[in-house]
Amino acid sequence: MSPTLKEKQFEIMQDNMNKIHPIDCLEFMKQVPDDYFDLVLTDPPYGIDLANMNMGTGKSPKASRIENRKWKAKSWDKETPSDEIFDEIFRISKNQIIWGGNYFNLPSHKFYILWDKQIPNGLSFADCEMAWTSYDKAPRIFRYSAYRDKASKIHPTQKPLMLFEYCINLTKDIKTVFDPFMGSGTTAVACKSLGIDWCGCELEADYVEIANKRLEQVQGSLF
Ligand SMILES: C[S@@+](CC[C@H](N)C(=O)[O-])C[C@H]1O[C@@H](n2cnc3c(N)ncnc32)[C@H](O)[C@@H]1O
Repeated sequence: MSPTLKEKQFEIMQDNMNKIHPIDCLEFMKQVPDDYFDLVLTDPPYGIDLANMNMGTGKSPKASRIENRKWKAKSWDKETPSDEIFDEIFRISKNQIIWGGNYFNLPSHKFYILWDKQIPNGLSFADCEMAWTSYDKAPRIFRYSAYRDKASKIHPTQKPLMLFEYCINLTKDIKTVFDPFMGSGTTAVACKSLGIDWCGCELEADYVEIANKRLEQVQGSLF
């Protein structure tokens, strides 16, 4: 008996796992069956035009100019994702953790995660960042200095690995994670370290390369 369309879709998805796909996430998500992933953990473009803003770097104005120039080549942050992208995110996953939740049109919900960046006032664009989540829990604050990972930061909006591991570990039931906006691959690295299946998309070829290099350095979980 030949496989049904649903069986074929699941077979394709198995081949797609544990890879970063260098394509538009909307195109990718259209092939994914409903509720396929346990969690979408993501950090979409906030639409704040990062390339043209004066980022607080905590450094002298002279050093900041050099730091800012590093990120100015890219323009992916001009707009927030379309409603169609958010509709697909909610269709293909059972739960969602969406960083920058305060920038998007998401339903009001009680469980936000607030990342306190522990940066002295005035030295950062924002003192904290917020994630919208679909979980039914009490809000939490994750305190972790943004300076701790500064030396190894290769993407302008790279999130701390410990923050993303914390997000995945909020429930015990997560077996598959999808990130439509991989950037430098923090979601993938966190999943690989925890022994969880993942996949994701990233449009910029050099970020895909950076993410794959980060992944090569992860040993993977023994559990
Ligand atoms: C905020 S960054 C993610 C940073 C990531 N959390 C990290 O730790 O490195 C968003 C990323 O989404 C990518 N992107 C933007 N639109 C996209 C799309 N339609 N499909 C796939 N990737 C996209 C951008 O190139 C950018 O690297």
